[in-house]
Amino acid sequence: IDIFGAERKNSKGLNMNIISESEPFFAALEKYAQTQWQAGPLVNGKTLTGDVVDVVSPFDTTKLVGKVAFADKQAIETAIASADSAFARWTRTPVETRANALQKLADLLEENREELIALCTREAGKSIQDGIDEVREAVDFCRYYAVQAKKMMGKPELLPGPTGELNELFLQGRGIFVCISPWNFPLAIFLGQVSAALAAGNTVIAKPAEQTCLVGYRAVQLAHEAGIPADVLQFLPGTGAVVGSALTADERIGGVCFTGSTGTAKLINRTLANRDGAIIPLIAETGGQNAMVVDSTSQPEQVVNDVVSSSFTSAGQRCSALRVLFLQEDIADRVLDVMKGAMEQLTIGNPSSVKTDVGPVIDATAKANLNAHIDHIKQVGKLINQLELPAGTENGHFVAPTAVEIDSIKVLEKEHFGPILHVIRYKAADLAIVIDEINSTGFGLTLGIHSRNEGHALSLADKVNVGNVYINRNQIGAVVGVQPFGGQGLSGTGPKAGGPHYLTRFVTEKTRTNNI
Ligand code: NAD
Ligand code: ALA
Repeated sequence: IDIFGAERKNSKGLNMNIISESEPFFAALEKYAQTQWQAGPLVNGKTLTGDVVDVVSPFDTTKLVGKVAFADKQAIETAIASADSAFARWTRTPVETRANALQKLADLLEENREELIALCTREAGKSIQDGIDEVREAVDFCRYYAVQAKKMMGKPELLPGPTGELNELFLQGRGIFVCISPWNFPLAIFLGQVSAALAAGNTVIAKPAEQTCLVGYRAVQLAHEAGIPADVLQFLPGTGAVVGSALTADERIGGVCFTGSTGTAKLINRTLANRDGAIIPLIAETGGQNAMVVDSTSQPEQVVNDVVSSSFTSAGQRCSALRVLFLQEDIADRVLDVMKGAMEQLTIGNPSSVKTDVGPVIDATAKANLNAHIDHIKQVGKLINQLELPAGTENGHFVAPTAVEIDSIKVLEKEHFGPILHVIRYKAADLAIVIDEINSTGFGLTLGIHSRNEGHALSLADKVNVGNVYINRNQIGAVVGVQPFGGQGLSGTGPKAGGPHYLTRFVTEKTRTNNI
């Protein structure tokens, strides 16, 4: 999509239906089928050692993908001290130079697409299509923030004043931005945070999720190759409890950009409040209890397509994914009937196979928690469908896609981050209750609406407190610059990633009044 004319285009990604694109892609992907990657803290451009952890595939835990060394105290201290002293230089580097490095990074991501996709499938258990989309989104973020930074920071804004007085407003970086990302978008969200912070003139310490350090490490290597100086972008793999909490407690940092669970965001908020030093911003993008509301004017087959892709693709591991489907009772039996059949068509299995629709969940803890929820919710509600896990999934973290009918959203106390759909029937006269129920969760990320009554759909869109509303389509896969993404309330602070206001939270403002 061409959003700014010649200035920027969204990445094309890959079209698997075009044989001249798919054949060379699969040939190149095959080269990485057995690769063993190594990663560690990347501090001032040098890979350090530390406690080494085996990385195994979520698809088959007997298969090693590589090894990663977690950052120790010394690595954390050196990274912070170096990023701190690099800040004055980087924030005075012309925004065009910063933007050019990010444009170059986008090109390098595209050049290294196959390796990055192989990493996403093997380390994070992402399907091939999700891997393709992941690289495309990472490319889009780099290019988008490069262009936005030039627009916003290229020249100071001239302000009015009395004759002889020159008033100018400058935007500058804030210092070290600590970027803490989740495993479910190990490249796109990881680089989205990092590229925004760098474009705005901050130095960065990037802490990937502990489950997906190999992807993050490769991305940072490419960023250095693209011209981001090694002291400006530091990489510290490790757990949240050790590395994340040490970084967020440090008084030298200038801001935190976090994506992950609501609970962790609150923990970081408390850490920031209790530390010495300046008051600094926390950008938090967190979880959701996302609903779709379907009325009786909608088209059941289209509804089912969108429900299935919103709930079960990516094994339900998207913050945007559909968790609670509200069906108007007149249409509910028909939709559920078609949906049961559509679920049976899903292929569960090895994410490295192009045929796979539903891969594994990320780890053993996620699998155990999701299965416990399925057991519980089947007691509370009525099972609609639960797929059989096929042979060949025994060694992986697979959870069977499941749909259960329940009476009220109130039986869900938290977000269940996997392939589980809850269905609630409603009467047309009770729509106001549905809206109250959705708003009462306190989350506000995505909302799907299916209706052919536009007035009705727009009124619902207005009354439900969420960041992203999707009418008559699925509710996942926001595109950079097209559907700026992010929620409200328990779902995050904003500003929206991939939107025109995102960089504003990464900068500080200075007004200069000159009477010389
Ligand atoms: P998580 O909160 O467990 O971890 C996220 C990151 O925080 C990881 O890097 C982790 O190491 C780090 N962390 C954990 N404890 C920390 C601490 N005390 N201090 C500092 N850092 C700490 O989340 P997750 O399981 O990796 O990701 C899944 C969650 O992310 C879901 O809730 C999902 O909805 C949410 N998510 C939200 C968005 C969005 O844009 N709103 C996008 C993707 C994922
Ligand atoms: N941005 C991701 C989506 O929209 C989370 O699905």
